[in-house]
Amino acid sequence: MPPRTTLWRLEDHTRGKHMVLREYLYPWLAMILSTFERAMFVDAFAGPGEYEDGELGSPVIALNALAKHSSQHMMRGQIDYVFIEERPDRFVHLKNVISRLRAKGSIPSICKVNTYNDTFAHVFPKLIDSISSHRVPTFVMIDPFGVSGVGMENIRALMDHPSIEVYVSFMYEPMNRFKDQTDFESPLDDLFGCSDWRQGIDIPDSKERKEFFYGLYRKQLKLSGARHVLHFELYDGDKLKYALFFATQSDQGCDKMKQAMWKVAPTGGYSFRSDTLGQLSFESRAVDFNELDQALISEFGMDQPIAFESVEEFMRSDKVLFHSGRLKSHLARMERESTLVVGKSPRRRRGTFPPDTILRFVDPPPPSPRQRRLM
Ligand SMILES: C[S@@+](CC[C@H](N)C(=O)[O-])C[C@H]1O[C@@H](n2cnc3c(N)ncnc32)[C@H](O)[C@@H]1O
Repeated sequence: MPPRTTLWRLEDHTRGKHMVLREYLYPWLAMILSTFERAMFVDAFAGPGEYEDGELGSPVIALNALAKHSSQHMMRGQIDYVFIEERPDRFVHLKNVISRLRAKGSIPSICKVNTYNDTFAHVFPKLIDSISSHRVPTFVMIDPFGVSGVGMENIRALMDHPSIEVYVSFMYEPMNRFKDQTDFESPLDDLFGCSDWRQGIDIPDSKERKEFFYGLYRKQLKLSGARHVLHFELYDGDKLKYALFFATQSDQGCDKMKQAMWKVAPTGGYSFRSDTLGQLSFESRAVDFNELDQALISEFGMDQPIAFESVEEFMRSDKVLFHSGRLKSHLARMERESTLVVGKSPRRRRGTFPPDTILRFVDPPPPSPRQRRLM
């Protein structure tokens, strides 16, 4: 049940959602505000701005990402922050939190804050008008408590604009309980923007059922215009609470979001378990880089000439879990292990991969007689 009080306790898994948001907004703000004159951040289900024990809510996390940004001096654009909150008590609380920030000088002058005590659906036409007329890069966070209030139709209207990115909570847990309730069909029709979810509701195996719903949601986001779709799961211990889906048309946006997700879940599983909080480290579980070898080979084949730029584009996309930040060191390792050969290239040093380099993935050479004796 969603909380009824104005403020509520921050559940541990929610921290994962906030961490990914913070990690993403840093590079997004730097990239967007040093390139464009205007941008917009929308928190469509903003909440009261803080939690019961004083932890920060998403509106403040987003404002702080700008206020505490080390590259603020390089930003030449203006940004509108739009916060929408339906409940009057939470809205008043949010306004007070924002006033406190303003009084402390924590709202930079390049930022204008617009608040609406209204429903997302009601503000939506105004939002779309503003996006259409100004054509500004916009990040929209859609974070309802349940599955109602955000239809695929809204997302489709947003994704019609090339520089819109959507970060949406996909409430998996309540979906599992729906079968026992009446009137669940219409919210799910809206959520998915189609009726195909009915084929998944009776899948007995929970993992298969989950994959079905994720796959359908992903497919619908792509049909709505997203070029890349990523998702990230939030668990409470072993219990899956919900997943965050990120939809974008930008290769760079997809790559940066993968980097943010990797930072929060460094073992590469794209899931945050609240009981691992504070112990997240690469040493805790090894990342399996063989998966990356396999992904590269299955995308590009063996013994085929490939432009380095194509490999880079692949690494930025949602076709592979790994991000482009890992590419050069990984290729250097493959070259050392003789599973990659470099053809034409302007490079001066082995293990480097400048533009216009041509690569080939190859089988490793057979072991030498001496190595065979040692095996
Ligand atoms: C999950 S909470 C948001 C938490 C917040 N994004 C954060 O991370 O700190 C969802 C909020 O949306 C509000 N809400 C519910 N229905 C809404 C609607 N249709 N439009 C806008 N806000 C709504 C709720 O009152 C609640 O405060």
